[in-house]
Parts: sequence; structure tokens; C-alpha cells
Amino acid sequence: MPLSTLPELTVAPMEGLTTVVYRRLHAQFFGAADRYYLPFVTPTREPKFTDRQMRELAPQANEGICAIPQLLTRNADDFIWAAKALADLGYKEVNLNLGCPAGTVTAKGKGSGFLQYPDALREFLDRIFSANLPIAISVKTRIGYSHEDEFGALVDIYNDFANGMDSLTIHPRLRTDFYKGDLRVHVFNRFFTELKMPIGYNGDIITVDDISRVRHRYKPLKMIMVGRALMADPALFRKAAGGNPATLPEIASFYEALFDSYAQAFQSRKNALMRMKEYWFFQHNLFVGAERAVKQIYKAKTVEDYQAAVETIFENFDLRNDAVYGWKKPL
Ligand SMILES: Cc1cc2nc3c(=O)[nH]c(=O)nc-3n(C[C@H](O)[C@H](O)[C@H](O)COP(=O)(O)O)c2cc1C
Repeated sequence: MPLSTLPELTVAPMEGLTTVVYRRLHAQFFGAADRYYLPFVTPTREPKFTDRQMRELAPQANEGICAIPQLLTRNADDFIWAAKALADLGYKEVNLNLGCPAGTVTAKGKGSGFLQYPDALREFLDRIFSANLPIAISVKTRIGYSHEDEFGALVDIYNDFANGMDSLTIHPRLRTDFYKGDLRVHVFNRFFTELKMPIGYNGDIITVDDISRVRHRYKPLKMIMVGRALMADPALFRKAAGGNPATLPEIASFYEALFDSYAQAFQSRKNALMRMKEYWFFQHNLFVGAERAVKQIYKAKTVEDYQAAVETIFENFDLRNDAVYGWKKPL
């Protein structure tokens, strides 16, 4: 990769948030990101995606955007059938999830749970990278399960597959950190130049300044992946490319469209309302002083209450230039 290449700005996979509904509308209202990583799909023993999974994976669901599906499994045979099926659907890249910290996932040795078993992980990677799959494989990982010093051994393993690995995106936290506390950036720094494959950086990027800082600090970097801050500031990537910040009317129309599309997808405005609360958990951090007002949204039991609470926010609070890190929790 030439030194002058700018890293791609990519949307982190987020279950329940970066869905087909969100991706389409985000691209339409704020311009498409370089790539959208899809929330994970767990391949089943039966080598066929379920109807529910196909709602996210069908090529028509992702027309006009660069969508990268993600698989969560520790079974190489399941990864292989699913990767082939994704290639048949027209995808050029599949991402392996080695980061999910949820107890139900790690208890089965999947996601960041897999990082506890380096030998099994090496065997798994050996199988999938030697399967001559007709699709590129990228990996998203944490730096370990419970200790920073696990990362050295993981780096050795990943480097052994560097030739075949499209990219390795690193979230510099341990599984035991979940999403809390400060990033362990010193670990990322220590190994950045030792890693032989294209590298992605993920974690706690909030502003355009953060994007520039990471761009300048790490070269060459293949991508900067952003999750929660993009839920707070959907125009973040547009701003990073020199475009305008989001306006109130833009956010208002975007949210109306999200609500309508979820209501249609769920055939229920009530269920759509629940989903919208999850977006507002992040979105209110782009408004000045809306921390208390957003509680009315969380409390809303009816669509009318929800709409009244949303209106209160749009009418009484200004937008900030940059979102603030309102979702940060100490360890
Ligand atoms: C609600 C939620 C759902 C997530 N779902 C996934 C997922 O399906 N796959 C994955 O690799 N990471 C998932 N993540 C992790 C994000 O992709 C990302 O690594 C994390 O939010 C840190 O990046 P950020 O600081 O830019 O948000 C999820 C995170 C959250 C908060």
C-alpha cells in the first residue's frame, strides 16, 4: 500500500444498529461510507442462510453500497460453507468476528472467546486460509481475552496468515474490558509495525480531529472503522471528507425515515419505537445539553409520546459541531 493512500472510512458492524434499514438511509442522507461491515451472522450447521439472515445478506439489500458480511463461528467447516455462499451472492470480502465480548458468545469459544485458545485459533485460520475460498477474508479482533500480554502470541498467529488476510482490524481492548475504560493504545502502538497485513484501527474515534490524528499517527493504515460515534453524528465521514456537518432538518428527516422504514420492516410502529430508542442513546450526544430531555424518549411507551419527546429535542436543543463521548463508561 503506498504511503500516500488515505485510510478508508468504514462503518463498524453493530448488531441492531447498522442494519439494512440504517445502511440504506445513511448512504442516502449523508453519503455512502467506503465500506459498511454488516452485523455478525452465525452460520448454522445446515449449510444455508436463514430467511432472517438473508434479509441482511440479499444483494438487493445492499445495492449501491460496499457491504462486507461478517461471520461469527469457531467451526471451520461452517465458515467455509458460509464464505462460499457469500461469494455466490456476489460478495468480495467476508469478515471474521474475533471481537464480540458477549457472555453467550464467548462461553462457546466464539468472538473474543476464541482468543483464549490460540492453538485452536491457528488451526481454524489454517483451515479457512488454505481452503482456496473464492472470497477475500478479513479479520476483526481484540488484543486478547483478559491480559495485554496475550497479543504478542496472537500477532504471531495472524502474521502467519498475513499473505491471505485482506485486513486485520484491531479494537485495542480486551474481552474483559467490554467497551469500557480507555483503549489500550500502547499495545496497538507496540505491534503496529510488526503486523504484516493491511491494518484497520477501531475504537473511540469521535471527531474529525480524531480521524486526522489516527491518519497521521499510523501509516500506512488501511482503514479507520467507526461505530458508536457514527450513530451520534451520521455526518462524521462527510465532514472528514471536507463536507458539511449535519443540520437539524437533516437529522430530523433521517430519523423520520428510519422510524418509518423500521415500522415497515417490523410491521409494527411500537417495535420500531423500541429500536429508535437505541439510536437516540447515541444520537442525543450531538445535541447541546439534551441528556435529561432524551430520558423522555427512553420512557415513551406510545408512538405519540415518542414523537412528542423527539419534537422537544429538535425544537429546544442545538447541534454541537462534534458529538461528545457521552456513552463512555469507566472500567
Ligand atoms: C450495540 C453494539 C453492537 C455491536 N455489534 C457488533 C457486531 O455484530 N460485530 C462486531 O464485530 N462488532 C460489533 N460491535 C463492536 C463495534 O463494531 C465496535 O468494534 C465497537 O463499538 C468499538 O468501536 P467504536 O468505539 O467506534 O464504537 C458492536 C458494538 C455495539 C455497541
